[in-house]
Amino acid sequence: MTSGEKNREIRTVHVGAASRAYDVLVGPGALALLGEVTRGVAGEARVCVVSETNVAPLYADRAEASLAEAGLDVAPSIVFPAGEAHKGLGTLGTILEGLAERELTRDDVVVALGGGVTGDMAGLAAALYLRGIRVVQAPTSLLAMVDSSVGGKTAVDIAAGKNLVGAFWQPSAVVADVSCLETVTPELLTDSCGEVVKHAVLEDGALLDELSARPLNAPGAAAGDVARVVARNIEIKRDVVEADERERGLRQTLNLGHTVGHAIEAASDFALGHGTCVAAGLCIVARASESRGWCSGETRARVERCVRAHGLPVTTDLPADVLMGFLAHDKKRHGDGVNLVVPAEIGRAEVRRVSLAEMRGLLGAGLAPAGDAS
Ligand code: GLY
Repeated sequence: MTSGEKNREIRTVHVGAASRAYDVLVGPGALALLGEVTRGVAGEARVCVVSETNVAPLYADRAEASLAEAGLDVAPSIVFPAGEAHKGLGTLGTILEGLAERELTRDDVVVALGGGVTGDMAGLAAALYLRGIRVVQAPTSLLAMVDSSVGGKTAVDIAAGKNLVGAFWQPSAVVADVSCLETVTPELLTDSCGEVVKHAVLEDGALLDELSARPLNAPGAAAGDVARVVARNIEIKRDVVEADERERGLRQTLNLGHTVGHAIEAASDFALGHGTCVAAGLCIVARASESRGWCSGETRARVERCVRAHGLPVTTDLPADVLMGFLAHDKKRHGDGVNLVVPAEIGRAEVRRVSLAEMRGLLGAGLAPAGDAS
């Protein structure tokens, strides 16, 4: 395939974050451009692919072939066991030792090939190794494409909680090959749609209505449509990250649905997927907001309709007291309150400081039976 042929269906979203500017390439077959892109940002560097045991057998050869074809010096890949259970300090240490064994220098590049766990851990390893070397993110899951590979958040879990140790470390490029979604299970694809719906609620009413009519996880969704929706999600996140890279203000709105969602996730002992919990959290906070007059019934109904269309839950059976127990220990708690993101209308979210006592009342209102989808 010539470079021109490879480029035809690829969209580019430019991210001008305060600490680093970079391009995100999105489209079917984009992985074939990984080498060209990496060479473009790093020159004649040594590169090391970091991946996990589910993704590496599917895509590592293709990624490494592209890197070698571009004239890069490809070190043996580092592959760790798949799964959130391995997203810890032990695996992080193994990756860091692996980079040192492969003699990567400050001029060299880590390529994070995989889903959110890989991107977060390889990104953090790149942030720490030699006090920071470049990372190119090559996300293979929908969640990683629309959310975690863009914006520079990297982290590992510790016993006290998820993502409690991390750094802001922007990638030097992101290559999102939507063809990789063909090997993602339907369950995981559906789970990731929670974050897609969140982005639409935050910024794009037309996209929300399109997704309600034609859900992204519908069988036979056209690759071109998926690539367009992924690129639009990245633009939405890009706009927020450019305005507030360090989450001091606007970036907090990306936590829409997460305050309650994280509590559901933790209460389920992480048996439920992140996006699934965010989807339920979105609807719960929308109903709570309607009950306080912070958003209209129409806004609440549009959120629920889109969540339902993707086969995601609009509520949880977990009691408010159980959720409050987890919520009170959330890492994003501020003093004796939380910064709760609420959908003021489709396309506009607000951050409201609410006390834990108020939050208990809001949960009660949000957990009331789901409204109709009218
Ligand atoms: N996933 C939310 C953020 O990157 O800020």
